[in-house]
Amino acid sequence: MAYSTIRKNPEAVRLANLPDYAAARAAFTWAGAREALDGLPSGGLNMAHEAVDRHLAHGRGDHVALRFLGAEGVDRELTYADLAEQTDRFANVLRHLGVRPGEIVFGLSGRIPELYVAVLGSLKACCAFSPLFSAFGPEPVRQRLHLGHGSVLVTTPSLYRRKVEALRDDLPDLRYVLLAGPGADAVSGPGVHPLARLMGEAATDFTIEATDPETVALVHFTSGTTGTPKGAVHVHEAVVAQHASARSVLDLHDDDVYWCTADPGWVTGTAYGVIAPLTCGVTCVVDELEFDAERWYAILQEQRVTVFYTAPTALRMLMRAGEEPARRHDLSVLRHVASVGEPLNPEVVVWGQRVLGRPIHDTWWQTETGSIMLANFAAEPILPGSMGRPVPGIEAQLVRRDAEGHAIVAADGEPEFVTQPDVEGELALRSPWPSLMRAYLGDEDRYRKAFVGSWYLSGDLARRDAEGWWWFIGRGDDVIKSSGHLIGPFEVENVLLEHPGVAEAAVIGVPDPVAGEAVKAFVTLRPGFTPGEGLRLELSALARKRLGPAVAPREIAFDDHLPHTRSGKIMRRLLKARELGLPEGDISSLEGGAEVPATTGGTP
Ligand code: WT7
Repeated sequence: MAYSTIRKNPEAVRLANLPDYAAARAAFTWAGAREALDGLPSGGLNMAHEAVDRHLAHGRGDHVALRFLGAEGVDRELTYADLAEQTDRFANVLRHLGVRPGEIVFGLSGRIPELYVAVLGSLKACCAFSPLFSAFGPEPVRQRLHLGHGSVLVTTPSLYRRKVEALRDDLPDLRYVLLAGPGADAVSGPGVHPLARLMGEAATDFTIEATDPETVALVHFTSGTTGTPKGAVHVHEAVVAQHASARSVLDLHDDDVYWCTADPGWVTGTAYGVIAPLTCGVTCVVDELEFDAERWYAILQEQRVTVFYTAPTALRMLMRAGEEPARRHDLSVLRHVASVGEPLNPEVVVWGQRVLGRPIHDTWWQTETGSIMLANFAAEPILPGSMGRPVPGIEAQLVRRDAEGHAIVAADGEPEFVTQPDVEGELALRSPWPSLMRAYLGDEDRYRKAFVGSWYLSGDLARRDAEGWWWFIGRGDDVIKSSGHLIGPFEVENVLLEHPGVAEAAVIGVPDPVAGEAVKAFVTLRPGFTPGEGLRLELSALARKRLGPAVAPREIAFDDHLPHTRSGKIMRRLLKARELGLPEGDISSLEGGAEVPATTGGTP
């Protein structure tokens, strides 16, 4: 193997929350993990109580919970006591407006304090919270608000004007829009209120009702190959797994200064950017601005960040900025670095060791799993390129797949597992565990299809070596991962098809050295339309306007003909293989098979 194992020094092992993997795994129970939390005085379990209020009861109200960094340094700072008061007020705002437990509050904003207060305040009121990524265009926003029957939206005046105002007629369930930040008074519309005014009028104390741990807490939308986005539903009990993994994997200690760079619009930014670290009582640094290598190093130094959770794309961008800015900054207090969201190439792990002074600890999980499932641990060696091993409490297997990619199911209804080392299979996890999604919002059929017997099937392909380490191979479907964001090709294709000139569209991910994958679209045109730069720009502008820059294709190619299956579905997999110059695999279902030489295909 090209990369040698990275071993940890005895000091790191001594200080780690999880000093010995095998022992921790053997001793672990979910009941034991639950005991690390307090529970509500009135009974039940509420994420916001665990994240905020309980620290006051433990005498840590004065500790800084959230420190927001803007263009001019520290923007605002909230202690645990401040956060308790603000979230009580927000819960009272919802009650006052008549928003009932169980309704979904949506958020659409950058990383501003009001968003964090809204997440936790909604949870206190036993409303569910669903964060939307602020770089989404109006179409993804409309779709998600519509699917979730969102009744409340917390956003900013400018995002409201740009992305929501024109959609109000399409969103009859949306009763209230609470506007955060400057300019809120100047906006009017049905149910539109300045959040600051309502907060100012609200009472400063709120008693959380005895929360059944199965109460819906968070809804995170994620994309599949086909169909509308899926709303993964998580309940308050998820906090048990989030807290346990924040201790065991992120190695959070009470006095840590922790920086999770993910936006709360995505599951990492909520689970490990809001809930889990606050349950550990740490100080969370929140950068309100976008990536900038120089600035990031300055934050690590000035904020004295001890634990850093980020994404491979961000790390590759830091790498690209060269070693010099890293050398100029004092990163000596940085103790632990982890990443998630896309394949972490071994070069980055080793670069971390050399340049940050810490190797990068890859972790694997998904929106659906609600918390980290596989990980490299602070006290354990790292095999660069490996995702590590299942966290305590989680049982993982590789499921055998048939030629069509379907799980092979035994007579007893359970999947068949790969038993040999280093053989590819679909990564599956034994259900249940506390943070496993409980539903896809309003789509029972799709939820059921995610399971075989007692196993949740992730859709990812992986292998496990003889020593029990897990290695990522690829996704089993056509979903695209760009800069760590999951993009459903179908959603992008639908928007391109809105253009009168487009007959068909197929969207795939193509390799990108920094973002992992970039979105590329192939379109065929209707008679009367000719390919050319003008049309390309028009399509590109349409996609950016409707989908937002994070989702719109970076490249658009015109094609005379897209490959189809005999049943008429576009074969994105084949387009991708052709694009990458890879073997075309099983093309037995390709229509008009004559266009490919028989020797490359399977049996017709
Ligand atoms: C998909 C889930 C919850 C984390 C944020 C993304 C890919 C995730 C890794 C990793 C290779 C990874 C998988 C997975 N992924 N972590 N360590 N190595 N790929 O959550 O948006 O639901 O995406 O991200 O393909 O299925 P998500």
